[in-house]
Amino acid sequence: MAIEIERRPMIVERTEVKRYSASARVNHWITAICFVLLTLSGLALFHPSLFFLTDLFGGGANTRAFHPWIGVVLVASFSVLFVRFWKLNLWNRDDTRWMSQIGDVVKGEEEHLPELGKYNAGQKMVFWGTSLLLVVLLASGLVIWDQYFHGLVSINVNRLAALTHSLAAIGAILIIIVHIYAGIWVKGTVRAMTQGQVTGGWAWRHHRKWLRSKVKETDDH
Ligand code: HEM
Repeated sequence: MAIEIERRPMIVERTEVKRYSASARVNHWITAICFVLLTLSGLALFHPSLFFLTDLFGGGANTRAFHPWIGVVLVASFSVLFVRFWKLNLWNRDDTRWMSQIGDVVKGEEEHLPELGKYNAGQKMVFWGTSLLLVVLLASGLVIWDQYFHGLVSINVNRLAALTHSLAAIGAILIIIVHIYAGIWVKGTVRAMTQGQVTGGWAWRHHRKWLRSKVKETDDH
């Protein structure tokens, strides 16, 4: 006996949830572009084997001149991001629980995890780690910006600042690599920062408390 299977076209309705305004996205991508340029120009000045990277900036002297100014733009741009997002990155008890169940996070078994607000503990650590390192980079960078601040401190303090600047830069680069990897690894996240929205499924799966608050917001209006 043949069984007939009825084939109907499936209508999949996708709910979109707004995650970032256009201005937040522009703010983020200006910061990201500055970070990439700073990494390239910084590495070019860091070690002779990477000096070839100065070609990207029009030679050694230009690289030396541009690098600190790009840093100033990055700090200004990140400061605006900081003001926008610091409250949402405050640590709470669910973050500690989420961290203690990091095995479930890696396995993608999110049903055992606490419901999360807009950001998870990993994102919060990236946020605070980047914020702290940028303060260190700015302070140590100003000390070694000879064009404007030459002779303000002793040579030993200058050397210490150069070492601190390099170590903080390595830390920041590693953190941002984790940030980019996590954004790509959690499918559907990059479009939050490119298109400004995520699917309802993404929000339900990864940031349920945030989704509930968004739904409540629309109900209240
Ligand atoms: C260069 C490539 C980068 C990519 C592909 C990228 C991607 C993303 C994505 C997809 C999000 C949204 C995450 C979500 O809503 O759950 C995000 C958020 C964010 N990104 Fe980036 N990003 C990059 C660089 C940077 C840099 C260099 C910084 C800072 C120096 C930065 C700081 C932030 C901040 C502060 C947020 C908001 C999340 C939070 O406050 O915890 N990003 N990024």
